[in-house]
Amino acid sequence: MDYSAIFGKRAGQYIEACERWPDARVEEFSAFFGYLKLQQGERLLDAPCGNGTLARYVSNLHQYQGVDPAPAFDRACKIAGVNCKKTSLRATGLVGASFDVVGSLTGVHHEFNRVELYQEWFRLLRPGGRLVIMDVGRATPVGEFLNDFVDRWNSNGHQGDFLHEADAVGLKQAGFERVLWADAAYSWELPTDKNMHAFMSKLFGLDLSPDLATMRHSWLGLGWRPSPGSCRIPWSLRLLTAVKARVSHYD
Ligand SMILES: C[S@@+](CC[C@H](N)C(=O)[O-])C[C@H]1O[C@@H](n2cnc3c(N)ncnc32)[C@H](O)[C@@H]1O
Repeated sequence: MDYSAIFGKRAGQYIEACERWPDARVEEFSAFFGYLKLQQGERLLDAPCGNGTLARYVSNLHQYQGVDPAPAFDRACKIAGVNCKKTSLRATGLVGASFDVVGSLTGVHHEFNRVELYQEWFRLLRPGGRLVIMDVGRATPVGEFLNDFVDRWNSNGHQGDFLHEADAVGLKQAGFERVLWADAAYSWELPTDKNMHAFMSKLFGLDLSPDLATMRHSWLGLGWRPSPGSCRIPWSLRLLTAVKARVSHYD
């Protein structure tokens, strides 16, 4: 089953997790929004947007366009008044050169034809526009957590193709310049371990129901340590940024 089909099935639980515990990923969204460096009047494409959480960070909603292939995410966005188009990420049908920034948070690792994806984002950006990808890096603790623990406890499995050197090459092939890597480290946080267990069980669609002790054990690999005050899960992603040059031989 491809990831569009998997998200078609598990989107409802993902949305429930985000709505029930809206603060769990607040550090992640704040960090990502900061990296976008969105200026007043600039237009942002959020791809894939999931249930549109990032739109809450944008002061003027006319600046925001989300895209996502999963019908349930599209519906959730529309109910929340978030501008979303249900579409493949590789062929959005949106007008070319109409965005100042393309942002992509944890969606690239589900997409196996990345050169086409990067070509589409290059087409959608105006000259001078920027691309900001924040996603799981290959051979990292978060990558192992997803492709090992989540893979084991979600009956559809999880095999993400995480960011690696070929992505930088693919971006350059698509026409991007100033391709840069960085690391983004922060935590997911909820008041208790039980809350985090329930949140992750829904967010990752863990229908094979790992118990709390089993999940706590998996968190150790992420750098979690027991704490009475709150449950903080260290969560770090890779940041890949690039620019569509103002005057380019690709235009
Ligand atoms: C982990 S969620 C991230 C959503 C949102 N950016 C967030 O951070 O909450 C992954 C998203 O990828 C979308 N998706 C589904 N199939 C995909 C595919 N084939 N390629 C890329 N993304 C896909 C899903 O619909 C889902 O919204």
